[in-house]
Amino acid sequence: MKKSLIALITVSLSLSGLALSLPAQAQQKPYAVSNGNELDAESYKGFKLYRNWCARCHGTYGQGLAGPNLAESLNKITRDEFMKTIAEGKTGQIGMMPAWKSNPTVMDGREYIYRYLKARADGAIGEVKPAKAK
Ligand code: HEC
Repeated sequence: MKKSLIALITVSLSLSGLALSLPAQAQQKPYAVSNGNELDAESYKGFKLYRNWCARCHGTYGQGLAGPNLAESLNKITRDEFMKTIAEGKTGQIGMMPAWKSNPTVMDGREYIYRYLKARADGAIGEVKPAKAK
C-alpha cells in the first residue's frame, strides 16, 4: 500500500516535470546569433535567399518597403501561416504578393528564410548586414 503510494507520487512528480519542460521546448529558437550580426549557417542561408527573392518588396532586412515589415509580421502570424502565405501568395489591403509554389528554390528555402526573419522579429539581429558565424 505504502509502496504504491510512493510510486504514484513519483509518477505524478515526473509528469509535472515533463509538463514544465514542454513550453520551454516550444520556445526554442530556430536561429543562433552571436556578436550582434553573426548567424548560424542555416539562418544565414535564409538571409541570402531572403535578399535574392524577398528584399525588393519587403526591404533589405525585412523592415518593409512595398510589402509589409516582416520583422513585425512574424510576431503575429504562425509558422504555418508563413509557409502557406509564401506558397499561395497574398492579396490584401497593402498589395499583391505572387505565389512561390512553382519556385523550388524559394519553396525548399522557406524554413531557412523563416529562421532569419524570426531572428529579426525577436530583435536578436537588427537592421544590419548579417555575416556567417565561423
Ligand atoms: C512583388 C513584391 C513581393 C515580393 C517579391 C515578396 N512579397 Fe511578400 N508580400 C508582398 C505584399 C504586397 C504583401 C502584403 C499583401 C497584403 O496583405 O496586402 C506581402 C505579404 C507577405 C507576408 C504576409 C505578412 C502578413 O503580415 O500577413 C509574408 C509572410 C511575406 N509576404 C513573405 C514573403 C517572402 C518570404 C518573400 C520572398 C520569398 C516575399 N514575401 C516576396 C509583396 C511581395
